[in-house]
Amino acid sequence: MNKQIKDFKINKICCVGAGYVGGPSMAVLAYKCPKIIVNVVDIDCNKIDNWNSKNLLNLPIYEPGLSEIINKTRNKNLFFSNEIDRCIEEADMVFISVNTPTKTNGIGAGETIDLKYVEACARRIGEKAKGYTIVVEKSTLPVKTAETIKKILDSDSSNIKRNNKTFSILSNPEFLAEGTAVKNLINPDRVLIGGENQIAIDFLKDVYLNWIPLEKIICTNLWSSELSKLTANAFLAQRVSSINSISAICESTGANVTEVSKAVGMDKRIGENFLSPGPGFGGSCFKKDILNLVYIAKYFGLHEVAEFWVQIIKINEWQQKRIYKLIVEKLFGNVSGKKIAFLGFSFKANTNDTRESPAIFIGNYLLKEGAQLSIHDPKVNYEQIKLSFDNPNNLNRDKNSGCWEKVSELSNVFEGADAAIFLTEWDEYRNLNWEKISQTMRKPSWIFDARGILEKEKIINLGLNFWSIGLGS
Ligand code: UDX
Ligand code: ADP
Repeated sequence: MNKQIKDFKINKICCVGAGYVGGPSMAVLAYKCPKIIVNVVDIDCNKIDNWNSKNLLNLPIYEPGLSEIINKTRNKNLFFSNEIDRCIEEADMVFISVNTPTKTNGIGAGETIDLKYVEACARRIGEKAKGYTIVVEKSTLPVKTAETIKKILDSDSSNIKRNNKTFSILSNPEFLAEGTAVKNLINPDRVLIGGENQIAIDFLKDVYLNWIPLEKIICTNLWSSELSKLTANAFLAQRVSSINSISAICESTGANVTEVSKAVGMDKRIGENFLSPGPGFGGSCFKKDILNLVYIAKYFGLHEVAEFWVQIIKINEWQQKRIYKLIVEKLFGNVSGKKIAFLGFSFKANTNDTRESPAIFIGNYLLKEGAQLSIHDPKVNYEQIKLSFDNPNNLNRDKNSGCWEKVSELSNVFEGADAAIFLTEWDEYRNLNWEKISQTMRKPSWIFDARGILEKEKIINLGLNFWSIGLGS
């Protein structure tokens, strides 16, 4: 039955893309809106099988609190499937949550977002949707992508007439951070809806009003909404690069970055969040979104603006490189054949996502020097590490350089190691049995704390050498 605007209601939602954004955001939507049927579809059959897995430990992504919500909603009003066409056909509202990687070839390579997945998805919606359909951009997209989507949706005029189709396009960027996705989705700082058509905006607003107070829902024009998402991520990344640059000054001057961070963050104008130094930011968004901002700035001839944002990425890469270099220096300029315990492989704690993880870059540098990495991570599996190291975009080493292994038991990772590097701030790394560890490592042993999570005194008192990010000696 064709849906038309006059008797339109949101009964069924389809989300195309069951990844880190689509999966959790639709699970929470289904949980909070029990009367709406939510179909999450993906071209990746394996992923869908995992979302449907009886054993909740096999869900394709790890997020605290997610499996409980999936357990309450799955096959009630939340469904994961590969039946993309059927789910689009039946939907009153379609969310686009597909991947948006940085382009690797052609115009804008290395800077702008590759829109091939979004375009393919828009074409399919254009072809299959029936009657009036609200299309919502959930993926982070370059400014003005909504215009492209609209052109694609409206392009097949004979199909449009035949099926009585009309579309409204909205931008509704997702601000969830991995590791706290469920918390962020249930209680977001704000929900942003960008669009031109007030009726469509109100329909989406009504969905969110099921659990989000009105004052937290902001409505803007399409371009402001798309640009706000890029800007928010760029500002957050800028804070990380700022504190990381200060961490290097602390190490050289004898200041302590934790103290500096606290003193600076207590200024209400600055605020205390996002001032933790580390091995550089990772994740799928920060670098990609800044590169995209740089691309837009250059496109409009704003070269100084582009240069400003490029520096944020340069400092990030420099931070990773300087940590790798200091590890090699402390180990007498040679890590070839040395066992190095790698603690944490995800780009931050409480996620199994490894995209742009500093561990990949620092790991690759060390492998190039011939190191033997013994990797532990509570949530990242062997295949994921292999994929990350073998990804041609991440590869900067010869095939016959060092080697790596994945170790499941935390206590085994230190056995015979010359050094241990803490790269992810997993809780279980904070209170280790250092007496035991110090006995199993090869002497002289080094502990490198790139997250500032370990207890310095305890470690030094056991005769281990210790370096911590932003801690001057
Ligand atoms: C980010 C944005 O926070 C989120 O709003 C957006 O929707 C997607 O991108 P995410 O990448 O999941 O989320 O994680 P985030 O918590 O922002 O951390 C990004 C990186 O910065 C991580 O590698 C993290 O370890 C690092 N970071 C963050 C620091 O090094 N120090 C900090 O103080 C904060
Ligand atoms: P994000 O972090 O933005 O959620 P992910 O890579 O985790 O990105 O998820 C994006 C998902 O979109 C992937 O599972 C991918 O298979 C899926 N996808 C990409 N293109 C399409 C498409 N045309 N139709 C359905 N699913 C798609």
